[in-house]
Amino acid sequence: MKLKNLYLAFFALLTFNFAIAQESVKLPEPDKTGGKPLMQALNERSSSRDFIDKDLTEKQLSDLLWAAYGINRAEAGKHTTPTSKNKQDIEIYITTKKGVFLYIPEEHSLKQISNEDLRKVTGKQAFVKEAAVNLIYVSDFDKLGKGDDNTKLMTAATHCGFIGQNVYLYCASEGLITVFRAWIDKNEIREALQLKENQKVIYSQTVGYSK
Ligand SMILES: Cc1cc2nc3c(=O)[nH]c(=O)nc-3n(C[C@H](O)[C@H](O)[C@H](O)COP(=O)(O)O)c2cc1C
Repeated sequence: MKLKNLYLAFFALLTFNFAIAQESVKLPEPDKTGGKPLMQALNERSSSRDFIDKDLTEKQLSDLLWAAYGINRAEAGKHTTPTSKNKQDIEIYITTKKGVFLYIPEEHSLKQISNEDLRKVTGKQAFVKEAAVNLIYVSDFDKLGKGDDNTKLMTAATHCGFIGQNVYLYCASEGLITVFRAWIDKNEIREALQLKENQKVIYSQTVGYSK
């Protein structure tokens, strides 16, 4: 290949990667009325790990993320889950076959971070690389204000617990399976997601179809 063509190919690749990093995809409107009755969903809530490699639909992804951490009071910009002093420190990244995305609750959209399938880096259990979606719960410690890192970690972990339970209940309602996970390599995830110092990986949660 001539040198000029090599340069052109290099710049085309750079432009392509930039386009991927910038892309933001609006999710369909979430269904805020459907689902199983609450007491039935609670009765069916459980952790399962026998995932198969089958994608969620766009609608399922939309409903899942809205249930997890969507905006349910637009006028106040508040979420389906509470946060201490309304700090709203949690960011949800998801890994799917199509890449890595950041959920933007205010727009109910997904911002593409990478087009690589990085499901395998989200946990130490084999099923993570097959399941449709792994949610990665990250806390922006800057948003938690003053205080030591232990206190911030406890607050952030509590926030993730609320989100995790919403995901459990959505999955019980939708006939999907899920498991909340602490058995993760936080450094590996941090590097794969190219997180900044203040962005702390807290937990992960896998969602998908059962065998
Ligand atoms: C904080 C926390 C961390 C967990 N970490 C993992 C994990 O890394 N891997 C896993 O397979 N399950 C994990 N679980 C799921 C538990 O094993 C599960 O909730 C427990 O066995 C009870 O089962 P149940 O959720 O079906 O009631 C975790 C649950 C919680 C609350």
